[in-house]
Amino acid sequence: MQTLRVRLVRSRDDSYDIVIAPGLLRRLPEELARDGARRHALVCDANTRVLFGEAALRGLRAAGQEADLVEVPAGERSKTLTVLEGVCERLRDLRYSRKDRLVALGGGMIGDLAGLAAGCYMRGIPFVQVPTTLLAQVDSSVGGKVAVNLPGGKNYVGLFNQPARVLADVSALASLPRRELLSGLAEVLKYAVIASPALFERLEDDPDALLRLDPDAVARTVADCCAIKADIVERDEREAGPRMVLNYGHTLGHAIEDAAAYSLTHGECVAYGMRAAARIALALGLFPQAGFARHERLLDAYGLALAPLDLDPDRLLRIASGDKKNSGGRITFILPTALGQTTRRDDVPDELARQALTETLRRT
Ligand SMILES: NC(=O)c1ccc[n+]([C@@H]2O[C@H](COP(=O)([O-])OP(=O)(O)OC[C@H]3O[C@@H](n4cnc5c(N)ncnc54)[C@H](O)[C@@H]3O)[C@@H](O)[C@H]2O)c1
Ligand SMILES: [Zn+2]
Repeated sequence: MQTLRVRLVRSRDDSYDIVIAPGLLRRLPEELARDGARRHALVCDANTRVLFGEAALRGLRAAGQEADLVEVPAGERSKTLTVLEGVCERLRDLRYSRKDRLVALGGGMIGDLAGLAAGCYMRGIPFVQVPTTLLAQVDSSVGGKVAVNLPGGKNYVGLFNQPARVLADVSALASLPRRELLSGLAEVLKYAVIASPALFERLEDDPDALLRLDPDAVARTVADCCAIKADIVERDEREAGPRMVLNYGHTLGHAIEDAAAYSLTHGECVAYGMRAAARIALALGLFPQAGFARHERLLDAYGLALAPLDLDPDRLLRIASGDKKNSGGRITFILPTALGQTTRRDDVPDELARQALTETLRRT
């Protein structure tokens, strides 16, 4: 027998900049020219093609740069292996190579799909995130988690694939439907609860600033959220431990998303998940009543997870225990202990979780 060792000790710098500014999309040709790529494939959904893609394509071509549009249908149902295959086939037909770049021009769905396509196509070509929803600007475009769903589970096929850059044009949010704005705000509230009492207080003081998209409030909030996420990701890129705090509200949120067959937005589901997690923490005596009440009021103030939901708590717990983030069937919860602080628990009694979930879903 012979044993040969292949020595592959990797050291590479995956650092990247997140640029947050109004009007970035208008400056896309200059911004993308910095990357030195030969051509850019702008991956859009049907909405972002009309809103931003066509103008971006014209702008790039007018600036003498080669670019193409790759369009997929809008909505979570496009986060599939079939649509991923279609994107890769289109890139092949257009003869894209590793010298070229993908640009994820859209919300989190596009970021996750295009980021995965970029990681797989020809074993990987660089990509730039140009997030156009609040959710994507504060969360999904940063951190390098990219994936598509399987019928039985969300984000089951994916990669850690960091973008070359993130360009967050906060003025793009002006056209967001209110429901999508609220979806992104759920993630903003999540950051405040897990990491920043200062952000929590600012959100409490003036909900109207973000709800009416005050430009300064939006830019400051996007920057604060990206800073919190970047700090967590720098400490734990591959979710070995500290990064799991970002799943606050997501353990049950993902189960709700799945059980509701994606009829609710991601943020709505996360908001129900946050309410349930806070209730579990309260019942376990981990989260004081005063903190719990402020947590409830903040979600109320941003219009989140207010309606009762007709979903079976047992089914949700079953889905959650099959979630890939949970080891050995036990559900791992991120639970608040104070505003800005959390703990990770995988010993929450089933009955207590069921009770908290029932109260959250029936709340009127
Ligand atoms: N990778 C991560 O770390 C991470 C984190 C959080 C969420 N996600 C994923 O992100 C996805 C949700 O993202 P999302 O909420 O942005 O959904 P989305 O991408 O589906 O966008 C929501 C809707 O808004 C439209 N839209 C996008 N930009 C717009 C604009 N500026 N004006 C008007 N309409 C616009 C889209 O066409 C779509 O119809 C989920 O798949 C979720 O799993 C990923
Ligand atoms: Zn999320």
